[in-house]
Amino acid sequence: MAENIYPIYDRMLSREERERMLGQRGVMVWFTGLSGSGKSTVALGVERELHARGILCRILDGDNIRAGINSNLGFSQADRIENIRRIAEVGKLFVQTGIVTLACFVSPTEDIREMARQIIGEDDFKEVYVSTPLSECERRDVKGLYARARQGEVKDFTGISAPFEAPRNPALSIDTSQLPLEESVRLVVDMILDKQ
Ligand code: ADX
Repeated sequence: MAENIYPIYDRMLSREERERMLGQRGVMVWFTGLSGSGKSTVALGVERELHARGILCRILDGDNIRAGINSNLGFSQADRIENIRRIAEVGKLFVQTGIVTLACFVSPTEDIREMARQIIGEDDFKEVYVSTPLSECERRDVKGLYARARQGEVKDFTGISAPFEAPRNPALSIDTSQLPLEESVRLVVDMILDKQ
């Protein structure tokens, strides 16, 4: 695979040097949950809160990434794997630059999330399960996709016609139908500050 490839990682500045300059530690906070569960909304709140405390963050979000780097991918199992593989590789670069990285992807199966964990590295990977129930996500239907999935207009839709496997051992579990937004944000912020 890596034949005729000569990485220069050993001559680049180290992660430690970058983190010392920034005065913070890189980490990947991996939000998983159904479409409309509140992953991006919570991440936006976390980003604002940490930014105000002088911590550099970056959100990677499904709809944005799929409009750019992953615009050639759909929602088959193979494409979802490739989607998450690229995101994890890119996310790893952010983490190793010392940035608090907030990834918001449905990432529906244990296998897919395990792959992300392996790429990023166990120590840097904090899984947050946004566990808002399907009934509530469907009631919100912010993008109108659940209605279209029920009509059969959107195929392989997670929770309707494609599976979602709940994480078995997340670092944090948040049901946004039970907790006010500020409370969800605070839980994630506290978890991140704990690691700084
Ligand atoms: S993932 O399964 O590959 O991790 P990702 O998070 O990138 O998914 O994208 C999910 C977003 O794409 C959803 O929030 C929704 O807006 C949109 N989407 C469009 N079609 C589908 C589908 N078939 N299944 C899930 N999400 C879809």
